Amino acid sequence: MQVQEVSVNELRAALEDGRPLTVLDVRPTAQRAEWSIPDSRHVDAYDELWRGESASLCAAAEQLPRDRPVIAVCAMGRTSLIAAEILQQLGFDAYSLSGGMTAWSEAWNTAEVALPGAVPVTVVQVRRTGKGCLSYVVGSKDEAVVIDPSVDAGVYLQLAADHGWRIVAVLDTHVHADHVSRARGLAQQARAALYLPAQNRVSYEFHALADGAKLSFGGASLRALLTPGHTSESMCYVVNDQAIFTGDTLFLQSVGRPDLVAPGDQPARRAHMLFHSLKDRLAGLPGSTLVFPCHTSEPIPFNGVAHGAPLDRVLPAIPLLALDEDPFVAAVLQRIPPTPPNHIQIVRINEGKSAMPADMRPLEAGANRCAVSR
Ligand SMILES: [Fe+2]
Repeated sequence: MQVQEVSVNELRAALEDGRPLTVLDVRPTAQRAEWSIPDSRHVDAYDELWRGESASLCAAAEQLPRDRPVIAVCAMGRTSLIAAEILQQLGFDAYSLSGGMTAWSEAWNTAEVALPGAVPVTVVQVRRTGKGCLSYVVGSKDEAVVIDPSVDAGVYLQLAADHGWRIVAVLDTHVHADHVSRARGLAQQARAALYLPAQNRVSYEFHALADGAKLSFGGASLRALLTPGHTSESMCYVVNDQAIFTGDTLFLQSVGRPDLVAPGDQPARRAHMLFHSLKDRLAGLPGSTLVFPCHTSEPIPFNGVAHGAPLDRVLPAIPLLALDEDPFVAAVLQRIPPTPPNHIQIVRINEGKSAMPADMRPLEAGANRCAVSR
């Protein structure tokens, strides 16, 4: 019997719909520790399967429910074909995830938050669960803006259409280093204006936002707040004084790393800037402001629960923010994680200095590493 493959889109839709299935990850333990599919099971069967052995897989299979399909997953979608064939022989309705975890990098799910007010605003959080990137469609009346788009433009266009919104503006919070920004392509397809923080890094046309600049959409307003540190041009966007989209400046459990594409003594200078952005600018906002960052360091479950929290819960939960300036800078510089793979190439694409590849998966595979370690 030939093993059938399921696509990333089919699997992500099935998980978002809550259909009963088992995802069985057969990769080596070290690879799984880096990134995995939420609620998946694991058996380290990779070496055995390539040796033609199946003892570990068969033992794991005994623990699997038999009343639902099993989707085998590996790094590239080849070992999982072998695993699925064995599972079929054991009587399971088994499939292989086409392209494996490299393809899963593009999987996403959504959650929604309603911001109450005289003119209600809806925030749709688009979570690239396969990588940890968070982006947002923020709608009011019949218009929406998109912030930090990181999945295919069609996803945002469809979400906007589903809500009766026209996308009028697409914004990035900074020049990203861990994923290829989809902002340019989305702005073109939506015939919307592209806004970036004012800077001279990017070589294509955009509307430059200065500190304090305001945009209106539907009945809502968005204000740009310059918060340098993660990058020198990093901005946060405040919507209706109720929500702040913090890019890679502030996460729910950490702060942005200051070192990417920053030679010489720039990381230290940027860490000082980050301290002041966090302490002088963000900490001065109302505590009830909901923080919506651009990344998480863990795969996001298909649970429809938004990854966000009020500022007065986020800031006290980050021990680094209890430090004075010099100890903060020293601690940030000590906790910088390994540099993300391909980040220089990704930055060049996002600056418009290299062409956008047709297939971004090889460039973007793997976890994001934009935060300072906790
Ligand atoms: Fe970033």
